[in-house]
Amino acid sequence: MNRYRLSIAALLAVVFSTAYAATEQTPATQKQYQLASAGKEGYVLKLVDAPVRSPGAHEVLVRVRAASLNRRDIFIIKGQYPMGKRDNIVPLSDGAGEVAAVGPGVTRFHVGDHVAAIFFQSWVSGHPGPDTPQSALGGALDGMLSQYATLNEQGLVALPKHLSFEEGATLPCAGVTAWNGLVTRGHMQAGDYVLLEGTGGVSVLGLQFAVAAGAKPIITSSSDAKLERAKALGAVGTINYKTTPDWEKSVLELTGGLGVQQVLEVGGKDTLPHAIASLGSGGNISLIGGLSSFGGDIPALALMGRNATVSGIYVGSRADFEAMNAFIAEHKLKPVVDRVFEMADAQAAYALMESGNFFGKIVIRP
Ligand SMILES: NC(=O)c1ccc[n+]([C@@H]2O[C@H](COP(=O)([O-])OP(=O)(O)OC[C@H]3O[C@@H](n4cnc5c(N)ncnc54)[C@H](OP(=O)(O)O)[C@@H]3O)[C@@H](O)[C@H]2O)c1
Repeated sequence: MNRYRLSIAALLAVVFSTAYAATEQTPATQKQYQLASAGKEGYVLKLVDAPVRSPGAHEVLVRVRAASLNRRDIFIIKGQYPMGKRDNIVPLSDGAGEVAAVGPGVTRFHVGDHVAAIFFQSWVSGHPGPDTPQSALGGALDGMLSQYATLNEQGLVALPKHLSFEEGATLPCAGVTAWNGLVTRGHMQAGDYVLLEGTGGVSVLGLQFAVAAGAKPIITSSSDAKLERAKALGAVGTINYKTTPDWEKSVLELTGGLGVQQVLEVGGKDTLPHAIASLGSGGNISLIGGLSSFGGDIPALALMGRNATVSGIYVGSRADFEAMNAFIAEHKLKPVVDRVFEMADAQAAYALMESGNFFGKIVIRP
């Protein structure tokens, strides 16, 4: 009996010492970037010392080890993103790190787990709700360019074990968007021709998913060197959209005149007509981006005649993220990280993103 009591006491000591150690290591303040208003110019990045908020009930404190940039973050800092203006918001939706402490009642995670935040904190599964956009990190809510983030346990997923924090941080927006477009909504099958536009975050992850699924990706780029990199990743067809402005003709040639079954349409107004002309019978276009501005016509009759679908995609749910992670783990996929910047160099990371001189994803280590 005594021995039994002793071992319970020892167990409790271990449990409490672990929790204590985790809290003790957590500093009171942290380095964090915020977006300070720059009037009509949008915002500027401001590095501040901010308090670390202890996790409350059902909350998890994450030590953010990597955060990644999306084109959205350039639109936001320039004041061109359709969100209510809010000063001092913490930027970047995408981040990954380790659990530093958990609040009362947390059941999904333990101290030390490797996690990533989900883009829409309130979209767990099924259809998005009317308030889903108000739960986007780095937009409506404070984001991940911060050494610590305190989030509800429902707003996190476990990272695939073979991924580094830098690789994991590429997934919440770009990865889930590509997955939602190709798989959840597009129902991509092995053997499908898949069209990707440009070699940015969404498109390169889409290329990797297509290759792993046994589909046949065709990708466009303004750079022959980037097209070579895409070929090395498994693209079956590459087209330079600068030197071949009517690139739908090349897509039709590459597909034996049949067209593609899937398009991740990130280009927007200027690329949509080419994407529609590239589409085969029963195909799906996922409307995702507006790199050349948003807009464009949807030719109803032509799409009907091809039994085609056009899907509006706005990232995806936690269920999409978890399904994607299972696929990434099964295929041991490694997202392509072009460059990693230290926290102090966040401005340079933004500049590289804006320049377009990268392939895949850009990451910052907070
Ligand atoms: N709806 C959603 O949920 C969602 C989610 C993620 C992203 N997006 C949107 O999708 C788009 C892509 O996002 P991202 O983060 O993947 O961008 P990104 O990483 O910045 O990718 C930019 C790349 O796209 C290519 N590109 C630029 N302008 C182009 C054009 N006019 N036509 C074709 N390709 C062009 C270029 O590739 P090359 O250098 O190879 O030419 C460029 O490097 C953005 O508009 C973004 O806002 C939407």
